[in-house]
Amino acid sequence: MGSETSVTIASVGDIVKARQEGRALATEMGFVDSDLTLIATAISEVARNIVDHAKSGEIRLTLANHGSRRGILIVASDHGPGIPDINRAMQYGFSTNKGLGVGLPGAKWLMDEFEINSKVGEGTTVMMRKWLP
Ligand SMILES: Nc1ncnc2c1ncn2[C@@H]1O[C@H](COP(=O)(O)OP(=O)(O)OP(=O)(O)O)[C@@H](O)[C@H]1O
Ligand SMILES: [Mg+2]
Repeated sequence: MGSETSVTIASVGDIVKARQEGRALATEMGFVDSDLTLIATAISEVARNIVDHAKSGEIRLTLANHGSRRGILIVASDHGPGIPDINRAMQYGFSTNKGLGVGLPGAKWLMDEFEINSKVGEGTTVMMRKWLP
């Protein structure tokens, strides 16, 4: 099944595209029911952050493997301004944009694994995995 997709994120329409591609790929991988919705929602949030905070970037969707476990790996990357304080950014309600500040902590909560790396002036990368039950 070597399924792999990449979506360029530069506008609000691309958020919808990434969400749909993610849902399709997760379905192909064997995810069902509510898992499909939460994977799509996590993808939407990181894609929206690219549009809102970095203007443009990319979402890569691939198969994740660890031992006998299989799942979906989502990597959102951009060359935007970066995040000066990741701990603050991960708190519920923290937003530099008058947003609700729930995107990052929400995505972390929805997925099984969540990693964020960011460097001011260089950009941000979010890696998230969800394992098949
Ligand atoms: N890709 C990014 N590049 C630069 N800063 C980011 C990025 N993603 C998140 N941030 C920073 O982290 C903060 C928290 O992100 P989060 O998604 O939780 O909230 P929000 O985007 O402000 O609001 P919401 O997602 O609820 O609409 C943002 O306000 C922004 O300062
Ligand atoms: Mg957000």
